[in-house]
Amino acid sequence: MDILKRIEQFRETEERLKWEGTFAQYLEIVKQKPWVAQSAHSRVYNMIKDAGYEVVDGKKRYKFFSQQLFGLEEALERLVEEYFHPAAKRLDVRKRILLLMGPVSGGKSTLVTLLKRGLEAYTRTDQGAIYAIKGCPMHEDPLHLIPHHLRDDFYKQYGVRIEGNLSPLNMMRLEQEYGGRIEDVMVERIFFSEDKRVGIGTFSPSDPKSQDIADLTGSIDFSTIAEYGSESDPRAYRFDGELNKANRGIMEFQEMLKCDEKFLWHLLSLTQEGNFKAGRFALISADELIVAHTNETEYRSFISNKKNEALHSRIIVMPIPYNLKLSDEEKIYEKMIKESDVADVHIAPHTLRVAAMFTILTRLKEPKRGDIDLIKKMRLYDGESVEGFNSTDVEELKKEYPDEGMSGIDPRYVINRISSTIIRKEIHSINALDVLRSLKEGLDQHPSITQELKEKYLNFISLARKEYDEIAKKEVQKAFVYSYEESAKTLMDNYLDNVEAYCNKAKLRDPLTGEEINPDEKLMRSIEEQIGISENAKKAFREEILIRISAYARKGKRFDYNSHDRLREAIQKKLFADLKDVVKITTSTKTPDEQQLKKVNEVVARLIDEYGYNSTSANELLQYVGSLLNR
Ligand SMILES: Nc1ncnc2c1ncn2[C@@H]1O[C@H](COP(=O)(O)OP(=O)(O)OP(=O)(O)O)[C@@H](O)[C@H]1O
Ligand SMILES: [Mg+2]
Repeated sequence: MDILKRIEQFRETEERLKWEGTFAQYLEIVKQKPWVAQSAHSRVYNMIKDAGYEVVDGKKRYKFFSQQLFGLEEALERLVEEYFHPAAKRLDVRKRILLLMGPVSGGKSTLVTLLKRGLEAYTRTDQGAIYAIKGCPMHEDPLHLIPHHLRDDFYKQYGVRIEGNLSPLNMMRLEQEYGGRIEDVMVERIFFSEDKRVGIGTFSPSDPKSQDIADLTGSIDFSTIAEYGSESDPRAYRFDGELNKANRGIMEFQEMLKCDEKFLWHLLSLTQEGNFKAGRFALISADELIVAHTNETEYRSFISNKKNEALHSRIIVMPIPYNLKLSDEEKIYEKMIKESDVADVHIAPHTLRVAAMFTILTRLKEPKRGDIDLIKKMRLYDGESVEGFNSTDVEELKKEYPDEGMSGIDPRYVINRISSTIIRKEIHSINALDVLRSLKEGLDQHPSITQELKEKYLNFISLARKEYDEIAKKEVQKAFVYSYEESAKTLMDNYLDNVEAYCNKAKLRDPLTGEEINPDEKLMRSIEEQIGISENAKKAFREEILIRISAYARKGKRFDYNSHDRLREAIQKKLFADLKDVVKITTSTKTPDEQQLKKVNEVVARLIDEYGYNSTSANELLQYVGSLLNR
């Protein structure tokens, strides 16, 4: 990739997209592509909609968000369907400030940044194209030039509704520069850019005493008063507040509830009436999506204050809870690590998953029903199949606590712990145990963790550790078997042949001699015993499996190694039981003989080639599992 060439290409594209012409020419564009005149809310909605969605587990997953935000499908679907969509249709919600409410590091800023970056790109496409009165600091909508009494007719002819009044500045320019000839007013295509302050604004509160309302609504430019003679001459005013600059696009209000009231009142009138007051001018029309964010505590104290009632009714609150899905949490860490300075450190397989287990456990609430524990709940939420439960149970569990996900450990904490481990120890390879240890140490330094909570969290760390022990054992045992999947499949096929013959009171045929033989009772029992099936229960178990197979066959599905959880477990255990002694001796001996050494090297090589370890992490894993098996 030649970077200079790319820069040149980019410049050329930007040049090609540019357009300017008279208002009369602009009307031609509106006639052909009426969407260029859509409202800010509608543009945002269409941007999200145009990116498309997929349906995953019956839920919509909007592609616009799905590369960056994981596990928030339900919250995002609600946001799109209850806010953006009706707002785009000019329903009343667009007159509300959108307030994203959620716990720290839950992705609120990421969400807003996505919208901003998305709009920057979208306005460079045909579908998202947008035009403004040339030279206007607020990139005013050219259609504001059309006088009010003609707007109904305009709507009939063009199908485009016009809202808002021509700003004082453009009113004056129309008279002075164009002699009142609307059709001659110059219009240009604009491209949103936060850096250039076009269509995207950000406001974050600082010290209330020193912060000036001018940051929001612009200010008088005293140096020009002499030239223009009066403070109320719009040319003597700098329309460079965030609300001015965000016109037509999106305005992010960071930490809105920390803000001084006087700032909020401007927002009130802007959202409600679509205009705000600046300087000594008539109200200035603006069309922008206002999005703010806050956390729950702040929000609660805000609504409990009677003084805020008027504002409150003009806010629409959208909860953005933490992700509650294990696999998605893992993806969040992967993403954050990729973006960090520690991206080149080797992270042993399962490390992030085990860290994520801890995190998710801290976010889940104890199930009310007695037949399910937190670990199972975590699995179910992640879409794993858990014997005895189905998707209705998952929905029920979710209904138990509608506000789940508003507390617990945040992803940034985990990433900080991982980075600090890496940096402090100057190691180039970390594993699950390193991370769990670091998470544990970090609890003492975490500002918002009480003693009681700490105890609870320590317990979650040991739960995650137990899960890891199982994973580690399985991993090593798998690596000991040459071609694990193959062996498991062969063993299962063999078992099923025997079960079938047993249930049908039939005989099997010996593959070598062709002789008829009885089902191999010893083999079947050796597998069934692995999961505690008694002599009395064996018949029922075998019949149940046959029923499952025929149910699969009826639906045209293949019954395989993963189709029956308990059977899979039994097969796995049987394979491992046969191996256990070998694994135990090989992994724990201090002075391996030649044979053992060869095996260890073989296993390490397999862990590296097939399972994603490096030599450090593979050897650490073997050692750890050796110590586990010898306990
Ligand atoms: N559900 C998620 N999907 C993807 N990334 C996430 C998710 N939740 C958090 N993150 C990541 O965690 C980090 C913190 O997120 P972000 O800054 O957006 O949170 P926030 O809600 O604005 O937090 P704060 O309240 O501290 O401002 C970011 O790197 C973000 O990408
Ligand atoms: Mg934030």
